[in-house]
Amino acid sequence: MSDQNAVQEFDEQLGTRGLEGLWFNITEADIVGKEPRTTLMPHIWKWTDLYQSLLRAGDIHGLGGQAERRVLCLVNPGLRDLKMKRQRGTTHTMQMTVQLLKPGELARSHRHNFGAFRFIIKGRGAYTVVEGEKIVMEEGDLILTPPMTWHGHGNDAETLVWIDGLDNILLNSLQVISWEPYPGDFQPIKESFKSTAHWAGMARPVWEKAVGPLAYKWGETYQTLKHLEASDGSPFDGVALEYVNPVDGGHTFPTMSCGIQMLRPGEATQTHRHNSSTVYHAFRGSGVTVIDGKRYEWEKGDCFVVPLWSWHSHQNRSRNEEAILFSMNDRPMLEALKLYREEPGEGA
Ligand SMILES: [Fe+2]
Ligand SMILES: [Fe+2]
Repeated sequence: MSDQNAVQEFDEQLGTRGLEGLWFNITEADIVGKEPRTTLMPHIWKWTDLYQSLLRAGDIHGLGGQAERRVLCLVNPGLRDLKMKRQRGTTHTMQMTVQLLKPGELARSHRHNFGAFRFIIKGRGAYTVVEGEKIVMEEGDLILTPPMTWHGHGNDAETLVWIDGLDNILLNSLQVISWEPYPGDFQPIKESFKSTAHWAGMARPVWEKAVGPLAYKWGETYQTLKHLEASDGSPFDGVALEYVNPVDGGHTFPTMSCGIQMLRPGEATQTHRHNSSTVYHAFRGSGVTVIDGKRYEWEKGDCFVVPLWSWHSHQNRSRNEEAILFSMNDRPMLEALKLYREEPGEGA
């Protein structure tokens, strides 16, 4: 028997015993290398496609049994081939979706152990109910539904579009995901929103041990951005803010974080890279993000992804108007595991 046949026969025998030999050269097998590797791809979703598709979904899919939520998932082209549909995230850890709620509609209540947030991008006057608290949704607001909080949405005003961000892809890969419907369809509204009063300013109630529903109102967020307009800002992100967890001053969620950044008229940032991935939504203005040397031009409403370890920089294309990007990233998860890495580009 030739050596090759003997190796193959031995490998097959090991397979029947639930074993596998580590004979191959790991780097030649393209498994690991000196730098992080990813199948994620940079990609941009244009607002016209997103909005037209949402309106069409609104014509075709009702709620109340037909669809749990009227949601479009932004699927990264580098993950499209995965067999498990629910693993096809916007990145390998997170999912960004866009959601439409029409006047008179109710999206029934449920809860899950993955964290979620909404960032409102179009319309006003609809509401979400989290743990019995009714929270009105207006453009630019960020509203958190922490893990295992009951939540549903209602609309007695105008058609509303928002972005959802979830860490469900990470939890699914850890095989610990859970989800359950609210008994009785829609949870009762217990009280008007108290959390703004609870978490206002720099003070926090000492008896609150966990973050409940949280809303970051656009007016306050924008005011903070404008207050910092004349500052140096971050060389890589301009005037960039992170939405802070008010209990411990840490990231928005233990696994993912939300950010808002203003690129001042004509501002161009320096290049860097990190092993966290970021999904952006252009909330105002227009600009270009260069990802590994390729230009991605964005306008209000577009969403795009910067995969981990890709070199990137941002530029506001306007000389007169500010540009504002909302974003989500998985840096907290990497930091918790002591895996986070970041590098400035040449000349930075
Ligand atoms: Fe949910
Ligand atoms: Fe970055």
